[in-house]
Amino acid sequence: MLKSHSCGDLSNAHIGSQVTLAGWIHRRRDHGGLAFIDLRDSTGIVQVVFDPQHTRGPEELTHSLRNEYVVQVVGDVVARPAGTENPKIPTGAIEVSVTKVEVLNDCPTPPFYINEDVEVDENLTLKYRYLYLRRPSVHSNMVLRHRMVKGIRDFLDRERFLEIETPILIKSTPEGARDYLVPSRVNPGKFYALPQSPQQLKQILMVAGMERYFQIARCFRDEDLRADRQPEFTQLDLEMSFADEEDILDLIERMMVELMSVLRPDAKFSQPFPRLHYADAMSMYGTDKPDLRYGLTISDIGDIAGQTSFGIFHSALESGGVVRGICVPGCAGYSKHQLSDLINRATAAGARGLVTLSVVDADNFEDGIKSVLAKHVGFDQMRSLLARFEAQDGDLILIVADTEQTTCKVLDILRREMAGRLHMADSNIFSYAFVLGFPLLDWNHEAKRWDSMHHPFTAPRADDVTLLDSDPARVRGRHYDLVCNGHELGSGSVRIHQRQLQQTVFSLLGYSDSAIEERFGYFLQAIEYGAPPHAGIALGIDRMAMLFGGQESIREVIAFPKNQNAVDLMLDSPSAVDSAQLDELNLSLKRQLIDRT
Ligand code: AMO
Repeated sequence: MLKSHSCGDLSNAHIGSQVTLAGWIHRRRDHGGLAFIDLRDSTGIVQVVFDPQHTRGPEELTHSLRNEYVVQVVGDVVARPAGTENPKIPTGAIEVSVTKVEVLNDCPTPPFYINEDVEVDENLTLKYRYLYLRRPSVHSNMVLRHRMVKGIRDFLDRERFLEIETPILIKSTPEGARDYLVPSRVNPGKFYALPQSPQQLKQILMVAGMERYFQIARCFRDEDLRADRQPEFTQLDLEMSFADEEDILDLIERMMVELMSVLRPDAKFSQPFPRLHYADAMSMYGTDKPDLRYGLTISDIGDIAGQTSFGIFHSALESGGVVRGICVPGCAGYSKHQLSDLINRATAAGARGLVTLSVVDADNFEDGIKSVLAKHVGFDQMRSLLARFEAQDGDLILIVADTEQTTCKVLDILRREMAGRLHMADSNIFSYAFVLGFPLLDWNHEAKRWDSMHHPFTAPRADDVTLLDSDPARVRGRHYDLVCNGHELGSGSVRIHQRQLQQTVFSLLGYSDSAIEERFGYFLQAIEYGAPPHAGIALGIDRMAMLFGGQESIREVIAFPKNQNAVDLMLDSPSAVDSAQLDELNLSLKRQLIDRT
């Protein structure tokens, strides 16, 4: 090794020893004849001091050292002079008095600061990823992710799970996104699909008698990207035979508690994890992944709205919609401009409008309530409305009248927005909850067909199986989600393990018999051969690391993420390929694409 010690490992215990260190110049400061350099390696930072009296090597060399040069230094560990200790870094009590220095490599001026967490254009951090990863805060995200995955492996090993890899070149999996396809050279005209998840393979491992499987699995989904979505991401995927909902939820809760104790001992969370019914989550928070760190719950005012003379309320209710709202404390003083900003957010999310009610004085309906609604609402209705929202002086009520789906979506957005503005979400609280009671199916209005709420392998509740034919909307699924602070961390279900039932569900989802055979024939055959009852779940590793690391985006916890357009700016991928490669794959591009490239 080119070093005897690592920078971050040095402490008082090393005072008096001679050490050889190698790393990057994090920062330099000149003080009279002395040069102080913060030397950084993957373990941390230590101060090294160049004193022309002690340091061998040309003096010009010391002065030519620049940030991010790679150097090797030999020196003696000494206590820092009293009063110059730096309690902010673990090695702050000591420094290394350098006797010899050698430059191992130089470095052009980096395009952004590495030694300061100042915000940078994200595209630069993606293009120069190797420099961004050098930032100690970003490096620590990688350390945390490693420790998290190790914690998961250790925990599941103790629980007698086997880590088994499944192939990446597979057949399409119905997880709801588009597939990434890979053309096969040796089978012209045929394609592999990259796994959206190892769902069917892990179920087949149950048929194969593995009983307890897990994998830190790479998944690929061609879908619209957001802060917590990447086209290529990692799941903790697991499956358990002879298990039901309670076994999986118990296992996951114990694992999360163990991870919290290692990774976030400072944070608060309650146990047992609360359970929330899907229907309640939707009506109270407008989403199945609510942030439960704050209230701002949704109230339904359909009954009161029906008694008013407000046309918008009536038309929403008459067309089968709902009228609901939230009450935000302390925002009654919002200006016209601030209110129209909220209205714009609501309409951008699909609402026809947003009714705002500023409660300046809750006892004075004449002048104390500022709203377009005021002249359409009688005294008693206004009193009931304020009571329903438990409104107090200073509150701002936001009401949406629309289809249930749009109302939920818009109020969820507004609820998060207002909680953010009011700093209601404490970053030191982890509000875990299990969401249960999902319907098995979801009516797709555009395509006019049933979609799976989770995926087609989710079992219906035994007492609802007969409804599959007569009333599919009422069939409850054995599906569960783990949510935390407004993110869906994981999703799973008890699975169908009988061929006939699986086939019925495929048919209900609109697959023809031939499509079932072509896409899932192998799978149906496998479960026919003595599939045990089984259940499982997959947790998003990136999302977990993001939450544990207190980050806003999963890109901060992924070494080489893609940008919002699914482009890797460092590799410049995806990129054009030459025509010989396409020929080999029996592919040709459409004319207009060729013209564009
Ligand atoms: P699901 O599709 O809900 O379930 O995915 C499980 C978890 O994976 C994470 N996740 C993502 N993370 C980052 N980027 C993405 N594009 C992305 N998509 C999903 C989320 C999510 O909760 N096979 C089933 C699981 C099962 O039934 O066992 C599945 O994949 O955290």
